[in-house]
Amino acid sequence: MSDRILGIETSCDETAAAVVADGHDVMSSVVSSQVDLHATFGGVVPEIASRAHVELLNPVIGRALLEATVDPHGLAAVAATVGPGLIGSLLVGVSAAKALCLAWEVPFVGVNHLEAHLYAAFLEEPDLELPVVVLLASGAHTMVVLMEAHGRYRVLGSTIDDAAGEAFDKVARFLGLGYPGGPVIDRLAKDGDPSAVRFPRGLPERPYDFSFSGLKTSVVTHVRKHPELAVADVAASFQEAVVDVLVAKARRAAAETGAKGMVLGGGVAANSRLRERALEVCAADGMRAFLPSRSMCTDNAAMVAAAGWWRLKADGPTPLDAAAEPSLNLATTV
Ligand code: KG4
Ligand code: ZN
Repeated sequence: MSDRILGIETSCDETAAAVVADGHDVMSSVVSSQVDLHATFGGVVPEIASRAHVELLNPVIGRALLEATVDPHGLAAVAATVGPGLIGSLLVGVSAAKALCLAWEVPFVGVNHLEAHLYAAFLEEPDLELPVVVLLASGAHTMVVLMEAHGRYRVLGSTIDDAAGEAFDKVARFLGLGYPGGPVIDRLAKDGDPSAVRFPRGLPERPYDFSFSGLKTSVVTHVRKHPELAVADVAASFQEAVVDVLVAKARRAAAETGAKGMVLGGGVAANSRLRERALEVCAADGMRAFLPSRSMCTDNAAMVAAAGWWRLKADGPTPLDAAAEPSLNLATTV
């Protein structure tokens, strides 16, 4: 009998539940996005997010269990994201998971959201050969991580200011394209010229760290000076600048650490141009590229269940008095 884990994800603005068998076989994955609730405010409003999680979580869990046709009493564990994220949102998922564990008499596993993003690749490539370099780029984080073994990570570098997804969202807001910005810029950039404007590539002097706030300012200044520029050209040129630094730094990390492959993770990993460039450099360097499907790059609970399965095997269940930790980082899980 396989180990089935119910994963629960409520760290930001997606309410998600999934059932995954043996860390990779996705039996169900339900994601209810709150994007429409937050769009009018141009970003996630924490109070609205936690209230929406309260309303949505039970039906989302119910659907995930129904689609997977599992008896909850037979689950190997319920795994929930305990951090990092918005405290009010995290508490909804963590409290629900603990209550279900008590009712069904199954173990609880607390999962680090960043570790879950790393595990998205294992859903589709369970035998992925380590070590790999993971480029993790989301709305809140941007980092290059060397994954040496399961549960063993070295954060080689990270952003010193904005996350890559945050830069997409801020530039999209400035250009009047709405929220979230990543998917809109991705679409629009397909009709634009990526070499129309040469925007700055941040932090060339630091091998693995990123900076995106200067780029955002540069886009604003340039567009104010040249209002005649086509929005698609600005979008394509901005996207090219982000993708250039992300790929260059991950490529260098992979070469210098002797990694077997490059893995993309986090919402920005859904970006078409980033995926295209990552495939190109990996082919050129004779390295494998692991690109999780787009729905597994953005926040979902299948990746939480996958990471939970590995955590359960390595450390056993998490005590029920474990707290939600809004500022959890990756290093603390080593
Ligand atoms: O991982 P995620 O779903 O949530 C966080 O943990 O932050 O990432 C959301 C971020 C947003 O900033 C969004 O604009 C960005 O990922 N994103 C994209 C694309 N799809 C989502 N950025 C660039 N291109 C995309 N196609
Ligand atoms: Zn995320």
